[in-house]
Amino acid sequence: MPKLKIEGGNLLTGNIEISGSKNSAVALLPAAILCSSKSKILSVPKIRDIEYLLKILEVLNCKYEIKNQELEIDTTSLKNFPIPEDLSEQMRASYYFMGTLLARFHYAEISFPGGCVIGARPIDLHIKGFEALGAKVTLIKNKYIIEAEELTGAHIHLDFASVGATINIMLAASRAKGETIIENAAQEPEIVNVAEFLISAGCEITGAGTNKIRIMGRENLDNGEINVCPDRIEAATYIIMGALIGKNLCIKNLNLNHIESVLKKLSECGVSYETKENEVIISKCTKILPTSIVTETYPGFPTDIQPPFATLLTQANGISSILETIYESRFKYAESLKSMGAITITEQNLLTIKGHTKLTAQNLYVPDLRGGAALVLASLIAEGTSYLDNISLILRGYEDIVEKLTNVGAKIQIIE
Ligand code: EPZ
Repeated sequence: MPKLKIEGGNLLTGNIEISGSKNSAVALLPAAILCSSKSKILSVPKIRDIEYLLKILEVLNCKYEIKNQELEIDTTSLKNFPIPEDLSEQMRASYYFMGTLLARFHYAEISFPGGCVIGARPIDLHIKGFEALGAKVTLIKNKYIIEAEELTGAHIHLDFASVGATINIMLAASRAKGETIIENAAQEPEIVNVAEFLISAGCEITGAGTNKIRIMGRENLDNGEINVCPDRIEAATYIIMGALIGKNLCIKNLNLNHIESVLKKLSECGVSYETKENEVIISKCTKILPTSIVTETYPGFPTDIQPPFATLLTQANGISSILETIYESRFKYAESLKSMGAITITEQNLLTIKGHTKLTAQNLYVPDLRGGAALVLASLIAEGTSYLDNISLILRGYEDIVEKLTNVGAKIQIIE
């Protein structure tokens, strides 16, 4: 199994370009099949999840061409085949084909989705949304059969502002008869990006990015075109890396508005940085203040950034805490930080960190995507050389991470 070999202690300087958002792109590719003949998606990130989604498009007899991260998809010969389990279980986002196959064919057959093991991650809210639109959902073993005579707009209230359920219901409603309203909708920027794509294909949507979204379904959608928005989680990860071990590290091609809560928390920790239109310049902070974090839905502090931020807090002078309110078990990485010398206590969904502590290189196991990012940052500041196992989880969500970090002076490589 390939491993990441990381030698710690090298200051990182230079430019890092942020890629298209994983969590937007993985919804946009399934959304493309809502277009009757063709669609275009620009700034598609080169990550494993995209490779798997392209394989699913092939199973559905779609034609596509991708060059320089520009993806053109032709759905004129689209066929509704069951999504193979070995593909749908590779990532959580495969479940967006539920909404789009239901919208296009009024029938979808797909196994339970995969994704990082950070909690139970049920999809009850997605199913309630599909049923509200007129679909019947049956689960046979671990395969969902979702079918509808026809789809009619409905007034749906989400018990929780779920990102996936909000997007999946919007996808299903885009070709339903009449108006759908989603109350208590998630407000993440990725939802706005998907709505922009649907609008470009002829759908009428208002309120994306707020907690109330209106969708007026259209019988025929086509010629969708979108630029995948910058990956705010990748950007925040590398900005935190700059606060740990940067020297005028410049993170470019980001959207500052999308990471306001993270930048505010960094300032609270005494970390200074310079911002220009769509970039952040940051250097190692030598006096990091402790803080308390509560993860929330957007625009609150993002759950995906609590793991990398925890690594920063091992270097803060004092006691910090992270209360994880979105997932039930998203602190698996803390044990690995402890093995490197961090002082952490995990009590259910509260992580306490006592800094600052010197970190020493270790052999580490990547528990999930963002936990892996936390361990990469820890290895970059640790004394010695760390070896990280199970790195496919990191390659799923950070485009060209080895190249991007090597280009700014990190001693990082993939070894077999
Ligand atoms: C998306 O997951 C992201 N993944 C996650 O990023 C991110 O952490 C999450 O949103 C929250 O921001 C993608 O976009 C592919 P949710 P999603 O539905 O849609 C519960 C990463 O590292 N819930 O908002 O699955 C669920 O169990 C990944 O890039 C239900 O109970 O998130 C979880 O506890 C990790 N029933 C909470 O809501 C449902 O029907 C948040 O889930 C749906 C969700």
